[in-house]
Amino acid sequence: MKISRRDLARGLAATGAAAAASSLTYAQPPVGEKKSHAAWTQVFPGVWRARIGEPERITPVTVRAVPPLESAFAHLPAVAMPPISAIEAQQTERGCLLQLPLQPEEEIYGLGLQLLSFAQRGKKKTVRVNADPRGDTGDTHAPVPFFVTTNGIGIFVDTARYATFYFGDVRHKPSQPEASTARASLDPNYTQSDTATEQAAITIEVPRAKGVDVYLFAGPTTLDAVRRYNIFSGGGVVPPEWGLGFWYRADAHSTTKSALALAQEFRDRNIPCDVLGLEPGWQTHAYSCTFVWEPSRFSDPKAFVDAATQLDYKVNLWEHAFTHPASPVFAPLEPHAGDYGVWGGLVPDLVGAPARTVFGDYHGNALIDLGISGFKLDECDNSDYTGGWSFPEHSRFPSGVDGEQMHNLFGLGYQRAIWDQFLKRRQPTYNLVRSSGALAAPYPFVLYSDLYQHRDFIRALVNSGFSGLLWCPEVRDASSEEDLIRRLQSVIFSPLAMVNGWYIQSPPWKQLDRKKNNAGELLPDWEALEARCREIIGWRMSLVPYLKAAFARYAEDGTPPFRALALEDAGDNSLRDVDDEYWMGDRIIVAPLFAGEAERKIVLPEGKWHDFWTGEIVSSREFTVPHTREHIPVYIASGSVMPWAAVGPHTGAPERNKLIVRVYGDGAKSFEWHAGINHLMLKWSDGSGLIEQSGSAYSKSDYSVTEWKHFE
Ligand code: GAL
Repeated sequence: MKISRRDLARGLAATGAAAAASSLTYAQPPVGEKKSHAAWTQVFPGVWRARIGEPERITPVTVRAVPPLESAFAHLPAVAMPPISAIEAQQTERGCLLQLPLQPEEEIYGLGLQLLSFAQRGKKKTVRVNADPRGDTGDTHAPVPFFVTTNGIGIFVDTARYATFYFGDVRHKPSQPEASTARASLDPNYTQSDTATEQAAITIEVPRAKGVDVYLFAGPTTLDAVRRYNIFSGGGVVPPEWGLGFWYRADAHSTTKSALALAQEFRDRNIPCDVLGLEPGWQTHAYSCTFVWEPSRFSDPKAFVDAATQLDYKVNLWEHAFTHPASPVFAPLEPHAGDYGVWGGLVPDLVGAPARTVFGDYHGNALIDLGISGFKLDECDNSDYTGGWSFPEHSRFPSGVDGEQMHNLFGLGYQRAIWDQFLKRRQPTYNLVRSSGALAAPYPFVLYSDLYQHRDFIRALVNSGFSGLLWCPEVRDASSEEDLIRRLQSVIFSPLAMVNGWYIQSPPWKQLDRKKNNAGELLPDWEALEARCREIIGWRMSLVPYLKAAFARYAEDGTPPFRALALEDAGDNSLRDVDDEYWMGDRIIVAPLFAGEAERKIVLPEGKWHDFWTGEIVSSREFTVPHTREHIPVYIASGSVMPWAAVGPHTGAPERNKLIVRVYGDGAKSFEWHAGINHLMLKWSDGSGLIEQSGSAYSKSDYSVTEWKHFE
């Protein structure tokens, strides 16, 4: 028998429970749930904070590694008043609710490394760390509770909770009856109303917290708001020059012999390479980790690292933080670990200093002092869709955080434990990490994923610039030659240029197919494909001086070296949804091609542009380019002076200081790079070029120009 709601109500009335039911339906908000307006207090130039209730003890700001880079705020325009008058706040039984105005046509970007969407207006997103962000829910390797709008406003909610952001899609209930519907409709109106054009609100729910600090970053431009956030984070990182070279990660089964043979092969075959990465097999146990060299593969680790160093490689080691009971660091770490295990290992409480010190010191003494230049910090994101291997949200840690907070802080704490060791040794480093979060701009770490959609990888690169993150769209195997070339072309124009060959014996250009590669069945014409890849890797080497300048700017005024077109020109509606093109540095726009596409559409900002490769002037702002294997579409602003270094086997090779300088149009945009006392300037005037350089502490400033190549 079916029981209707009415029957149920009658039944309740009969038992005297109707009053309870109605009081449930019409409950008044409990005391303390009243809405209030939290005022802004200025904390830095153009940065304000509103404190709502009683914030939690552990948040991204309270556990931050680096203080704000105060001196850099002077690079940004002064802003006298906060661009939003107040924030509406409410404490509820579920946590904290915040509300901010959203103007008609105001678009929103950010929330960390979003792989699946770009413009966020009208969407609901929960900032939760996840190793497999397969749905567009806000899940990501690097959730950051920071967003910017096209009205030049940045908002950072200082929480490690899984906060939910409703970007304009929360609607008030209707309060007045109407005589009839406006028009007959059989279809449900799923889209409700056009939230993009209405006055709306941004609603943010921070679960479980009794309070929260919200930071407001003023523009005036959207890019200025991001710059302020990056400066507040401590300023952008500058990687060592070798970090900007080419990286190759060898097969997980590598031994001393095979890894060195590969390193030698690259040198013999003129494939530039700076960093050689080892994958899980270097350890005696990898899931969980011992952090101890496996003697059957690496019997003399020091001799191995020395031999790689002799060949001018840096060695990078894969690992994750879950610590096996047989690891020498297990016993000292055990008191500083969470109450659950992962893969039979400890989860170090990396939010707390004791665990970071014990864990970090071991890495410093046993591995960095051996000559290791950096690490790949794997598996530090959560595992919701892949078997639940990670620790649960109800975990407890000695520092006082629970599993939810730890998930959103784990990658950051892990990076910090390792980074501290390099800082202590005054040793520059550049690393990989699979999870990051808020205030990460100064961290010498680049994100990567186990997912492998080229299109999503480019969107991630475009999005990374909104949140102080760096991203590597790594190359592994490929579905076709075209796929390999396209992916390699993209990764060359990214913060870290890497082929991750962890599951293939030979480089992918020798055999694209994973199975055949591991069976030793090479492509009949692999040398031709290798030659194409060699050329593309060479572009990376040539780009290094330009990339150095882009990163120097990141450190100086917080300008992200890789960023969306919409970030640079937020007022230009034609650029608002462009998530497959990006700025690299201050004069180049990259528009990757994807395998299988016959052509692609290009949109460029206002101004005069040249095709980077041919120098030809681009005649319109919107056009289509046909599929070409030769080059990745790249455009350079007219007037640019652009260094193009000689390739060489690795970034430290002296022959690389010879530059070809490409000059586009009138050459009015000089090239400049500063690093401490070192300075390089390339100028073009009256049809001739001029090189100026100073600084002696750093031999790389001894550049010479072999050719000035002018494209009218
Ligand atoms: C994955 C990682 C890969 C590779 C592999 C080794 O988690 O994303 O890049 O390192 O582990 O087991």
